[in-house]
Amino acid sequence: MKLGVNIDHVAVLREARRVNDPNILNAMFTAINAGADQITIHLREDRRHIDDTDTINIINLCTIPVNLECATAITDIVLELSPHRATIVPERREELTTEGGLNLASPELPSTIAAMNETGIDVSLFIDPNSDDIIAAKELGANTIELHTGSFANAYLMAYSNIPKTKFSIKSLEHTNAKEALEFELDRLKKAAKFAKNIGLNVAAGHGLNYQNVGLIANIPEIFELNIGQSIIARSIFTGLSQAIKDMKELIK
Ligand code: PXP
Repeated sequence: MKLGVNIDHVAVLREARRVNDPNILNAMFTAINAGADQITIHLREDRRHIDDTDTINIINLCTIPVNLECATAITDIVLELSPHRATIVPERREELTTEGGLNLASPELPSTIAAMNETGIDVSLFIDPNSDDIIAAKELGANTIELHTGSFANAYLMAYSNIPKTKFSIKSLEHTNAKEALEFELDRLKKAAKFAKNIGLNVAAGHGLNYQNVGLIANIPEIFELNIGQSIIARSIFTGLSQAIKDMKELIK
């Protein structure tokens, strides 16, 4: 099981003070030395954390594969920089993080994917775990899909953490049986991973994965890679980034 470390949150902290501290390249080299298999970054349309200079530097200096997440609106720069992989994600300006899977009926997707395939970029689509979207991803010419684990992660938080007692309680799950919701979401992910692998797609997963819930996803044999950001960077405040990555690697082994 490979680990893509999403270092966006280092840039989030940097942008909070608008000084070059913490330095995103230090984070990248630390992640590489700690055993990350891939560096993942999300270049947003409004460049609110990772910016073009970061992206260029990371792609040029990184000694392991770079997975550049982006919305279709900014794929010109992706084609120009040609990272190892581009993961196409949905994006709404006002969202805190990527909230759902990609809408595969977007008219600009076929030409974007074709152009990336032509450039030799591994194209991944960030999708919800259902067979219709998996078939559509295959038909669109993607080589890889990343299954959105956000609903699974939310159900896990509501079932097994203190979040329901805090202001971060997930409203949509407050009147449901969280353990049943978790079973349902895990089952959906397992079925989706199997189905996708069977039709020849590489299957990654990510969003909301943390040190508590990751084992359930790492146990799904068809999934080859997890992309994880928030929980690793959050833990690094207490343990240092290198140790936080090593702890996650150990768990997903
Ligand atoms: N994968 C994709 C496609 C994402 O958009 C994100 C969030 O930027 C992640 C993985 C990482 O999610 P998290 O920060 O919750 O671990």
